[in-house]
Parts: sequence; structure tokens; C-alpha cells
Amino acid sequence: MILDQLIGFFSNDMGIDLGTANTLVLVRGKGIIIDEPSVVAVQRDKYGKQDILAVGHEAKNMVGKTPGDIEAIRPMRDGVIADFDMTEKMIRYFIEKAHKRKNFLRPRIIISIPYGLTQVERKAVRESAMSAGAREVFLIEEPMAAAIGADLPIREPKGSLIVDIGGGTTEIGVISLGGLVISKSIRVAGDKIDMAIVDYVKKKYNLLIGERGGEEIKIEIGSAISLNPELSMMVKGRDQVSGLLSRIEMTSEDVREAMKEPLREIVEALKDVLEVTPPDLAGDIVENGIVLTGGGALIRGLDKYLSDEVKLPVFIGEEPLLAVAKGTGKVLEEIGLLQQLANE
Ligand SMILES: Nc1ncnc2c1ncn2[C@@H]1O[C@H](COP(=O)(O)OP(=O)(O)OP(=O)(O)O)[C@@H](O)[C@H]1O
Ligand SMILES: [Mg+2]
Repeated sequence: MILDQLIGFFSNDMGIDLGTANTLVLVRGKGIIIDEPSVVAVQRDKYGKQDILAVGHEAKNMVGKTPGDIEAIRPMRDGVIADFDMTEKMIRYFIEKAHKRKNFLRPRIIISIPYGLTQVERKAVRESAMSAGAREVFLIEEPMAAAIGADLPIREPKGSLIVDIGGGTTEIGVISLGGLVISKSIRVAGDKIDMAIVDYVKKKYNLLIGERGGEEIKIEIGSAISLNPELSMMVKGRDQVSGLLSRIEMTSEDVREAMKEPLREIVEALKDVLEVTPPDLAGDIVENGIVLTGGGALIRGLDKYLSDEVKLPVFIGEEPLLAVAKGTGKVLEEIGLLQQLANE
């Protein structure tokens, strides 16, 4: 009985994966109900005031295609809050969309934030959620949420290694006994890979494509390892020399060459973490391997590539794009764990 009451009491509580590329909102008992790009489209009036036109999917479709006075903003870039005001509005929008104020009780909200946000940024996230109607806000760091979401045995006295490759950051964490023993966050992830592809196409083919074009190529034919047969696709853009629209055929070998540098940086960060991992925990990792989450885990062959580089088994977590959000959901289920993690 008491359990039922408790569940009812907390049933509108939310978990939010505030990602630089995608924001997911999960409501206790209902699962993930929002999964949209972290993009806000604004229009500036003649006084410079910004009106929000769209948030999420609708706003992402406007990226790179907007007329002069409309701007599609990604308020969180590279794992930092680039635009506080828009981040706050975006958080509010998603909370209000999920909450719908049907329930009297204001929700408790757990928000997963990139590891390495400054105190000022954390405060901004917390205050946005409070002003959007939260009763209480808990922040959880992304590698921890990803590890919980990927079902790693984080509370055991055993080392688990999680690598979450998102849009803005790659976060690497060694977790044992419910805490992050070692963690590292680098601002090299999906976005940098997209940009590297854009730069490559420009250099090799004199073709100008946008950031979204780079992302499409990565998802459609990108591979970290050689494929048999290799993949190819037609890419449209503007020829840098003639200025005319033009198309070229691009292969997965091209993309591998383009992704080389960002992938190397991810490998270096992983090696740095492994080097300072205490021997006992390292032993557990040798046995259990590394788990990949975040959208970057879906790059073809990335598990094999990383495994070859660091000579350890590497696994892709189940539904890697959802791991962080699911992790916040699991924390909501366990009030005890929640209090333990409410460390600031
Ligand atoms: N099938 C795919 N293959 C390769 N990359 C993909 C695929 N699907 C999504 N991605 C990439 O995953 C990234 C988004 O992942 P995710 O939603 O985990 O990021 P995020 O949580 O918003 O960002 P961060 O954790 O850095 O704040 C994007 O760069 C996207 O291009
Ligand atoms: Mg993320």
C-alpha cells in the first residue's frame, strides 16, 4: 500500500537528458515521451527581441535553411551552454510540454547534464527547471546516467567503463561503488565528426555542403573500419570554383579518412583514462569490457575500431541514444539512489 502511495506521489516526476544534440524527457510510469533535437528557432524583431518560432524537430528542419531574420539556434554546443537564455526557454518548453499541468503536484526532475558544466551553468539549468514548475531538481552527470541506463553494475565494487559519444561531447567514466572514479570529457563527438566531413568534402571535391549534409553522410555511409563492399552515395552541394550546384559520389573510404582525426582524439582520451585507472578496476575492465552509448556508438564498426586500438572488448549498449534518458528514469525509480546522488 505504502509503495503504491509513493508511486502515485512521485508519478509525474521527470527525467531529462539535456543533450547538446537531442533532449529526451521521461515521465515516471510512462517512459520516454519526448525525444527531440535541442534546437530553437527564433525570429528577431526590429528591436532585436527574439521570439521563439519553434523548438525541437520543427526547429531543426530550419537549420541552414532560414531566411535572414529567422535563426535556428543550438543553445548548447560542444557540451557547454552557449546561449543561457535560449537554453532556459528550451528546458521550459520541454518541461511544460511533458507536464501539461494535469497533476496538482509539481514534479521532481532529474536532469542529466554534460560532465564538466561549470557551477554557473549548473545553476542556470537548475533555475530554468525550477521556474518551469519543478518542485525539486537533481542534477546527474551524463557518464553516470549512461552507465545506469546501460545496466552496468555501478554499485558493485567492480570497475565499469562507459564511453558516451554524443553530439557535443564524448564522456568517459570509470565507475565503481556508485561513484565516478575517473572521468574525462572531450569536446569531440558527433558534431566535430560532421564538421570534419564538411571540411573534407570541401578540400577534396571543392564542394560546399552544410553541417546537416555532413551528418547525413556520416549516418548513411560512415564507417570506422573498412567494409566489404564499401558504401557510396551521391552528395549535392555548391561547387566552390564555379559557384554552381553540383554533385559528386562519395564512398565510405572517403568518410573514414575524414573521420580519422576526431576518432583518433576519442581513442587518445580513452587511452588517457585507461592509463590512470587503478589496477584492480582495470582488471575488471579487461574482463567486462567497455560499453559505448550515445548516438556516436552507432557509427559503423566503431566498437571494433576502438577494440583494436585499446585491445579490450568493446560493446554497444542497448539503444545507445536512449541510455542516458533511461538512466535518469531508473534513478527516479529508486528514491534511495536519488538521495545518494543528490550531491549538490
Ligand atoms: N546511426 C547513426 N550513426 C552515426 N551517428 C549517429 C547515428 N544516429 C545518431 N548519430 C549521431 O549521434 C549524435 C547525437 O547523439 P546523442 O543524442 O547521444 O547526443 P546528445 O546526448 O544530444 O549530446 P551530448 O551527450 O554531447 O550532450 C549526433 O551527432 C548524431 O549525428
Ligand atoms: Mg548525451
